[in-house]
Amino acid sequence: MDEDLLATAAARAIAYTRERNERPVFPDGEAVSGLSAFVEPLPTTGTDPHDVLALLDSAGSPGTVVSGAGQYFGFVTGGTLPVGLAASWLVTAWDQNAALGVMSPTAGVLDTVAGAWLVRLLGLPTGTQHTFVSGTSSANAACLATARDRLLHDMGHDSVEDGVFGAPPFRVVVSEAAHSSVVKALGVVGLGRSAVVSVEADEQGRLRADALPPAGEPTLVVLQAGNVNSGAFDPFDEVAEHFAGTPHWIHIDGAFGLWAAASADRRPLTTGMDRAHSWAVDMHKWLNVSYDSAVAFVRESADVARTFRVGASYLPNGAHLDPVHRGPDMSQRARAAETWAVLKSLGAEGVEELIDRCCRHARALGEGLAAAGFRVHNDVVLNQVMVSLGTDEETERLLNDVARSGTMWAGGSEFNGVRVMRLSVSGWATTDDDIEESIATLTALAGG
Ligand SMILES: Cc1ncc(COP(=O)(O)O)c(C=O)c1O
Repeated sequence: MDEDLLATAAARAIAYTRERNERPVFPDGEAVSGLSAFVEPLPTTGTDPHDVLALLDSAGSPGTVVSGAGQYFGFVTGGTLPVGLAASWLVTAWDQNAALGVMSPTAGVLDTVAGAWLVRLLGLPTGTQHTFVSGTSSANAACLATARDRLLHDMGHDSVEDGVFGAPPFRVVVSEAAHSSVVKALGVVGLGRSAVVSVEADEQGRLRADALPPAGEPTLVVLQAGNVNSGAFDPFDEVAEHFAGTPHWIHIDGAFGLWAAASADRRPLTTGMDRAHSWAVDMHKWLNVSYDSAVAFVRESADVARTFRVGASYLPNGAHLDPVHRGPDMSQRARAAETWAVLKSLGAEGVEELIDRCCRHARALGEGLAAAGFRVHNDVVLNQVMVSLGTDEETERLLNDVARSGTMWAGGSEFNGVRVMRLSVSGWATTDDDIEESIATLTALAGG
């Protein structure tokens, strides 16, 4: 083992994180051109690992988007908490395959503990099963596959063995404001991207319960905790009430919004969420754990086992469902360890404080920008703020100027037909000063 190589890597990584707030948030043209250092034909001969690492750092680091910076408000990405990063390094050194408890007792215990903590923290029903996957896109697909198999099972069709060929139809109900990953997941699990009943959403992107189709026939309903633009929540209670007593499955895509349940102040947004049958949530967004990490939750273990249990002569296949029997992956990184580390470090109070702080910052951004003459497009109920200038062209110019500013970054979106700047406050590193400075930067650029 070349300890010097690892020490060098650690030193380079520490220097990178130390300079987080000094680097341009979005790489400048020179840094992006520097990436040409990687573009070469497959080398025939090898390179010394120290030189490989030096190139990765010298050409690669300047070309990164500093998504952990205090003034990075792009997409809905959170920056890795130091304890998450540190745990990630250790987990990488362990090199564990978390598919089975017998492959790594440590990974197995941390998976069980972290899963149980999450169920409690997010207020999900006791007994809910969890599976760590790479992102909410995968978690949505895993949950929807489970829903498909359960609904068809109840209709007398074994889709696990026979596929969807010849299966009786059931209805899929999705908000017109559903996230693109939900639409993709429906296609992946054979239910079709377009073979859905699309339900109208209101001006905040909330599904309108009064526009739901009548209950009765077997139905898969996909709801959303945290609209990717506005942060709004679908009316879970009303939807659950609407379908109560009829064959149905409710799945909630809560990539970032599910975390509202960890905060006493935000929890009312999630009312009725516990009436669903499955939920998807990212760790790598608002919990500020390294990529790739998310969790698929399913209420009943029999449903998980029906869809995901595998049989092989060499696999333990007892009553306990190892991760390989709970989700789409076999070999997998010990992802739960990083979530365990962040939860252990923050505690429930620390998670609540992180969520509340980001929401407070989002509100301050909205209020500050409104006072500066921006139009704020959403009710800032969570961590998302959307603003625009007088015309789409002016907003577009602002987006370009912000990208060039180097001091902050936020992306564009379209909301109710208007070009907007979408600011998401999802990182632990953002401070009150960052919010003030960002308002000042945006105000100056808007006037320019
Ligand atoms: C509401 C929502 N659902 C799903 C996803 C997809 O999550 P991931 O990027 O982890 O696959 C996102 C990502 O932004 C999201 O905001």
